[in-house]
Amino acid sequence: MIKRTRTSARSQLPDREAALERYSMRANVYDGELALFEPLRQEAISRLQLRKGESVLDVGCGTGLSFEPLKALVGEQGTIVGIEQCPQMLAKARERIQAHGWEGITLLSEAADEAHLRGQADAAIFHFTHDILRQPEAIANVMRHLKPGARVVATGLQWAAPWVWPVNLFVWGAAMYSVTTMDGLDKPWSVLATFLHGTEVRATWMGSIFIATGTWSGRGPDA
Ligand SMILES: C[S@@+](CC[C@H](N)C(=O)[O-])C[C@H]1O[C@@H](n2cnc3c(N)ncnc32)[C@H](O)[C@@H]1O
Repeated sequence: MIKRTRTSARSQLPDREAALERYSMRANVYDGELALFEPLRQEAISRLQLRKGESVLDVGCGTGLSFEPLKALVGEQGTIVGIEQCPQMLAKARERIQAHGWEGITLLSEAADEAHLRGQADAAIFHFTHDILRQPEAIANVMRHLKPGARVVATGLQWAAPWVWPVNLFVWGAAMYSVTTMDGLDKPWSVLATFLHGTEVRATWMGSIFIATGTWSGRGPDA
């Protein structure tokens, strides 16, 4: 049973219980809510430059909306590991896999910092996973299971410039709905970047969305 806790997005650290509660309630409607953002998913995934037979970690995979475009690139021999802490979201991901009859997709029903990953993947995607991006232990766990030089992409909400305050109203509303900490919304990729080489960040949607890419340095933060 999910313990009722505060669901405010004002704490500095991500609130696991609040996130579980929030996404357990959203699981049935989540795919529809994300429809507007789907072109961003395509762009993020294309930046991973995946090839047939490669392996990719989908961190905070939710209902598995990235599986189809990822599978199209890695092919039948390629593998995907979806990491997701919310059982209701993961159940939707499982249904999606069964409906498509996909092979080679493993689901881990665990928080990203505790996930029992095996081996080392070629790439990782963090698509709209602000809470995870604010947890260095979660990022470190993922990086330990990437090959040095692995491609990494992260996307999500960020504060736009202060003078475009109507855009920031959108960011505020969307963040209150989907993340449990506002911490780091000015540079959500900042912790991830300490693990990567050559981080490049593109802002889109009038500055309210970022797409960050880089490669795993293989040597820990700021190596
Ligand atoms: C906005 S959804 C994004 C889902 C998916 N990446 C997508 O693109 O549709 C954020 C997801 O991250 C999951 N999540 C949040 N914190 C997590 C954590 N620490 N470990 C694993 N999953 C987490 C939530 O349960 C939710 O499914």
